[in-house]
Amino acid sequence: MRKRRFQSMVYDFYKSNKRILPWRATRDPYRILLSELMLQQTQVARVMEKYRLFLGKFPTIASVASAQPSAILSAWSGLGYNRRALALKKMAVIIVNQYNGKIPHEAELLKKLPSVGDATANAVCAFAFSKQVVFLETNIRAVFIHHFFRDWENVKDSQILPLVEKMLDTQNPREWYYALMDYGVSLKRLHRNPARRSAHYQKQSGFAGSNRQIRGAIIRLLIGRKSITESSLISQLSFPKTRIKEMLKTLTTEGFIEKNGTLISIIGK
Ligand code: ADE
Repeated sequence: MRKRRFQSMVYDFYKSNKRILPWRATRDPYRILLSELMLQQTQVARVMEKYRLFLGKFPTIASVASAQPSAILSAWSGLGYNRRALALKKMAVIIVNQYNGKIPHEAELLKKLPSVGDATANAVCAFAFSKQVVFLETNIRAVFIHHFFRDWENVKDSQILPLVEKMLDTQNPREWYYALMDYGVSLKRLHRNPARRSAHYQKQSGFAGSNRQIRGAIIRLLIGRKSITESSLISQLSFPKTRIKEMLKTLTTEGFIEKNGTLISIIGK
């Protein structure tokens, strides 16, 4: 029963908030592997533009295998972490030579490729091959920590994974993991990123807990409504009260928001 309720909640969110992403409109394992590689340390918006351009130049794994590394690097430029571009070239050669140009269907084989770890290998299995794999990446982690480890710190993946397995939509693992990822992204926006309570959390930039993040969360909350009381706003955001108040002051001075009595709203709304 808990499974049904959890799945409905995630799918309900997904139904009205799903992100339309080009690598979700394909089953081509090469395109999916490429997207997962690009998404490893790079934001979705940045990947979107580069992904299309890259595929325009290198439409198949064979085209990557036969290209000069410098040509791959040049198409990769702007994404950063260039090591991934060279890994892509290497894996393309391995796939062409050892796997007859076909990307393997088993996570264990995929993980032997350079720059392919647990999350990338399993994501390819779920998204390209609709396999019932059980895995975590940062957005999925956020969902499970938020819902099942509410007051915990240092949650280990080994504690979360049994729940991921239990809650898996075995009928449609591909859609299920898309839904979990999108839901996780939204949780990270509205709350202090639940994935920070993972024992495996690696801070990627100065963004988490930054002024910029708190401002963004406040604005997003306000965009959805006419006005909100300060206390209600504070209770809906998982940041320290003092930091939220500080940001409210700044946003007021800057002319983003206004306060009428206890009600806060976006100016011009
Ligand atoms: N959709 C498919 N894979 C994804 C990923 N790694 N991050 C975000 N959205 C995705």
